[in-house]
Amino acid sequence: MHTLGILVGPKGRGSNMAAIACACAEGRIPARVGVIVSPVDGTPAVEAAREMGITVQVVPTGNDSGPRLVSALQGCDLVCLAGYLRLLPNEVLRAFQNRILNIHPALLPRFGGKGMYGMRVHEAVLAAGVSESGCTVHLVNERYDGGRILLQRRVPVLPGDTPETLAARVLKEEHRAYPEAIAQVLHELEAGTQRA
Ligand code: GRF
Repeated sequence: MHTLGILVGPKGRGSNMAAIACACAEGRIPARVGVIVSPVDGTPAVEAAREMGITVQVVPTGNDSGPRLVSALQGCDLVCLAGYLRLLPNEVLRAFQNRILNIHPALLPRFGGKGMYGMRVHEAVLAAGVSESGCTVHLVNERYDGGRILLQRRVPVLPGDTPETLAARVLKEEHRAYPEAIAQVLHELEAGTQRA
């Protein structure tokens, strides 16, 4: 049985975290969630994790967060970012090379990069006038949204969409895409066929 560590963000809504935990409980991901790591206590994600009986570790952002994150994630086979907005410290990237995933609420490589998070992403998609958006699960490296793309799911952009309506449509697909990508990566790790 594999163990996942999930890193949530300072606002930590936690819907992807819950979708991953649910997929583990239902056997769609052959793993258990070992720990949720959050930069702050008391967010909805942290509360939800505790209600699900998942261990929570609070690691504030700061100069010494690298070793503290590595220590909080000890024993994890895969690390999943779910709403975590920062670049990861080098210590974490080194300790979990090619074993850190993120989900982005648009079709990378467009609409990604520094500062592209939350509603800004959906505003940019609408401003670009594209007919499709979606979500992207990718490996995490030292660049914002820069690692290899693992899986994408598409949704239409509909006439009259607001950033909020588009975000809601994309989020539904995120909840399907993330567990699927995690299961795929675990399978590749087991088979020893994972590419960088
Ligand atoms: C999601 O939209 C995800 O794509 C992005 O951050 C958001 C996290 O939402 N990286 P939630 O906390 O999982 O609900």
